[in-house]
Amino acid sequence: MKERLHQLQQEALEKIEQASDLKALNDVRIAYLGKKGPITEVLRGMGSLSPEERPIMGALANEVRQAIQTALEAKQAKLEQEEVEKKLAAETIDVTLPGRPIRRGNPHPLTRVIEEIEDLFIGMGYTIAEGPEVEKDYYNFEALNLPKGHPARDMQDSFYITEEILLRTHTSPVQARTMEKHQGRGPVKIICPGKVYRRDNDDATHSHQFTQIEGLVVDENIRMSDLKGTLREFARKMFGEDRDIRFRPSFFPFTEPSVEVDVSCFNCGGHGCNVCKGTGWIEILGAGMVHPNVLEMAGFDSKKYTGFAFGMGPERIAMLKYGIDDIRHFYQNDIRFLQQFNRV
Ligand code: DAH
Repeated sequence: MKERLHQLQQEALEKIEQASDLKALNDVRIAYLGKKGPITEVLRGMGSLSPEERPIMGALANEVRQAIQTALEAKQAKLEQEEVEKKLAAETIDVTLPGRPIRRGNPHPLTRVIEEIEDLFIGMGYTIAEGPEVEKDYYNFEALNLPKGHPARDMQDSFYITEEILLRTHTSPVQARTMEKHQGRGPVKIICPGKVYRRDNDDATHSHQFTQIEGLVVDENIRMSDLKGTLREFARKMFGEDRDIRFRPSFFPFTEPSVEVDVSCFNCGGHGCNVCKGTGWIEILGAGMVHPNVLEMAGFDSKKYTGFAFGMGPERIAMLKYGIDDIRHFYQNDIRFLQQFNRV
């Protein structure tokens, strides 16, 4: 009986050692310490022992039980600990890993140029005015000295919605609208950025939709020299402090006299290069002194008030400034193009 108990202890300790998980360990517990286990079996046979031997065997059986119990507990603690460690290892977060970068957007190059121009003029005391993109023929043409049938309407191929309503072909109607609101009283000092539409075939330099910024100043004693000083400031801000501008005579129905404005070439400084096509000058906008008819139609006394106006295309300014060769880039939403203006 003694041997049997020692043998059982030996066996049980080996199985405990081999148990690789908690379930296997529990199976060992039931097998050896359970009511139907071999130790209980052995104890049941105690009746056949002599009274002297009985307590000795009883004590030994308890020792064996205790030894198995202790081994079970130790192994259980070990397996539990291993399980926790396994779980921790599987769920580890390496807090020292660098984070995933968040892709940040950046302003569209056109937005950037428009805002830069707005800032410059706001700094000179202008306010920003806006008007509808679906415009009346009256404001788009007639109030700007382009009566029906005027050949200069052909300068701006239009999208008509009805006989009298069209998509505005330029931002100049905002001039007429703003002057009308002033009811003949100056000063008026605005710039009007916005989208415009023309029935053009899209190519590298034409788009059926593009942007313009219109400028208008109306007050007493406004002279052409005011226009020139203002535009020189603008050219220097956009293209560099050393720039100069020149006026070339031109024609717009809403201004008299009218001029095309050139800036000295920022690439060659005026000596002539491929950017300025060898002339040293680059055309950037149209301008002039507000035509008396336009002032009168909007309710201003053209004997008392004079004004200047100008209109420019931010696409053209941006293309020159950043060396962009195709106007379509602005509208194709190609992230590779747009991202280049991240740090400009
Ligand atoms: N509206 C003209 C255009 O779209 C641009 C322009 C020229 C506006 C001269 C003006 C101006 O105010 O004075 O071509």
